Amino acid sequence: MDRSPLTARVRESNRQARAAGSRWAPHRARVMEVLRGVPAGGSVALLGAGHLYDVELDELAIRYERVALVDLDGETVRAAVERHPAAKARCTVHAPVDLTVGLGQLATHRCGVPGEPFDLTVSLGVLTQLMQAVTDAGVAPEEVPRVSLAVRDKHLRDLVHLTRPGGVLVLVTDFVSTRSAPGLAHLPPDELEPALARLVAAGNFFTGTNPYRIAALLEETEPFSRHIAQARFHGPWLWAITPDREHLAGAIVAERRPR
Ligand SMILES: C[S@@+](CC[C@H](N)C(=O)[O-])C[C@H]1O[C@@H](n2cnc3c(N)ncnc32)[C@H](O)[C@@H]1O
Repeated sequence: MDRSPLTARVRESNRQARAAGSRWAPHRARVMEVLRGVPAGGSVALLGAGHLYDVELDELAIRYERVALVDLDGETVRAAVERHPAAKARCTVHAPVDLTVGLGQLATHRCGVPGEPFDLTVSLGVLTQLMQAVTDAGVAPEEVPRVSLAVRDKHLRDLVHLTRPGGVLVLVTDFVSTRSAPGLAHLPPDELEPALARLVAAGNFFTGTNPYRIAALLEETEPFSRHIAQARFHGPWLWAITPDREHLAGAIVAERRPR
């Protein structure tokens, strides 16, 4: 069994989220709204599948013939699949897969998943956990922003690489917590986007998650722009991630250029 500190931390975090299924229903509804806007058919890969609380697995297994579930924590994903007997036959669990790999290999390593390239690749709230791994790895504080952005860019390259030309990639991520922006919890939905823009301008967001920057990176900056036709931001919305805290979250949907 893998007993690395990273795996132990990720498992503990998943253990704490075990009862989150109903609390995450509004988040799940928003994620599914985004995914229903993407063409169905073929294959989908879900990165950071975890408990599968942020998707409707049964519906995805109707929309796609093959569902690849990728995570560091195989036990949690396999238990989640058991709760969806109707979807099980179309699902393959790929675990443990570490989406950070060694921090020293960030520039060159590509995440490979059997069955790639997929028609749709979805990153499910895993980006901020990859960032957490940077802090946990004992990177010197002054190096954390640089290494975090390298981890973010590697994750974006993995998403592009895992998606077939003409396919779609979706990055679902959280941006900022009500811990550092308590006013968010009391805002009506239509005031969340201006609030996000203000928080981003003020630098109050998780390192590397600025959705406007990510969309611009994908559309306008090499090596992404040669592969990406367009990238759109959906959201934001509030995700009741723990009983005492909400995170502002959203999705970037990007289309890979056909070959
Ligand atoms: C916040 S959860 C996302 C919610 C999850 N989809 C669910 O419904 O439970 C992040 C997921 O990413 C996985 N994860 C964290 N770090 C990872 C890594 N380095 N490589 C692969 N998966 C990782 C965790 O095991 C967890 O399932």
